Amino acid sequence: MNTEIIRIDKNNINVDKIKAAADILRVGRLVAFPTETVYGLGANALDEEAVKKIFAAKGRPSDNPLIVHVSDKEMIEGLVKKIPEKAFELMRQFWPGALTLIMEKADCIPHIITGGLNTVAIRMPSHPIALELIKVSQIPVAAPSANISGRPSPTEAEHVIHDLSGKVDLIIDGGSSNIGLESTVLDLTVDPPMVLRPGGVTLEQLRGLLKDVVVDPALLDITRSEFRPKAPGMKYTHYSPKADVIIVDGNIEAIVSKINELASNRISNGIKVGILATEQTREKYKSCNVLSLGDRRKPETIAANLFKGLRELDLTGVEVIFTEAVDDTGVGLAIMNRMKKAAGFNIIKV
Ligand code: TXA
Ligand code: MG
Repeated sequence: MNTEIIRIDKNNINVDKIKAAADILRVGRLVAFPTETVYGLGANALDEEAVKKIFAAKGRPSDNPLIVHVSDKEMIEGLVKKIPEKAFELMRQFWPGALTLIMEKADCIPHIITGGLNTVAIRMPSHPIALELIKVSQIPVAAPSANISGRPSPTEAEHVIHDLSGKVDLIIDGGSSNIGLESTVLDLTVDPPMVLRPGGVTLEQLRGLLKDVVVDPALLDITRSEFRPKAPGMKYTHYSPKADVIIVDGNIEAIVSKINELASNRISNGIKVGILATEQTREKYKSCNVLSLGDRRKPETIAANLFKGLRELDLTGVEVIFTEAVDDTGVGLAIMNRMKKAAGFNIIKV
């Protein structure tokens, strides 16, 4: 398949280009587009054949349901049985944005979208290109992250081109995704509401509105078999670069000296090592492939660079990546969730 790549400026959207992209979606083909969290791989959510193409292009397991994206709140009325009371306030406060809400699905949603579940995940993204594309196409758009299944989610068009070139009809390059981690998935079909995936909207922000929100206990350690994650997607290995990832957790001085020790051991055995550091620590590492993810005092900078950092180190051909744990409050909960999954829960505590 020939993949067309077009560039759209999010601050000065070219309407003709959006119309052309919307036409591709409307005839049942695939368009990768930027969102504020990560790039998405879109298809018409009401067209079963189109949605099948998403699973094929990504190599995604069929029991992993997709998020349906809308461009306004009215659009969700036909997609769910009933909008729960709690959803209205959440939508008012966090939409458009990085919050996905799970509700009971309406009959028009094909089973392939929901992996056979009777619930559906819905999100209204805030990225101007995503919003405009959905609005102009006048259809709800099913979109998982636009990566090959299991790889780090794409935060730049370059990452999408790397993974999906030749497998999708169109890739819209709209610059970097500024959040850099996927949306928070919140299940509203259970009481109390449960976070199934931590993401761009923090637990603290949600609790400001719904005091009783809980977090799926399986997120704390998917290696413990007594906990089965409730979001089907959370049980798969994920975000994995080709290199082995090892997290080092503890106070910052101890982390640095442990990583230096482990790295020099590996290097003396001829193993290529990469380090994901932070602004506060990058100068303290001796190994050559050191990348800073961002500022520890501004965890959102680390969130924005994590997937990109994993991909960049992979391209250098390193075999092991050491990464520093961060505080798991605020967006740190999502950062640590993605890091742990990339590391297959390989964490060294110092
Ligand atoms: O930020 C995002 O959410 C991005 C952008 C493109 O919007 N999308 C994204 O989609 O991350 P995806 O497919 O990579 O992740 C969707 C997650 C999976 O963990 C999936 O299992 C869960 O949402 N999910 C979807 N529908 C669900 C449902 N009905 N019940 C429980 N979990 C669901
Ligand atoms: Mg994904």
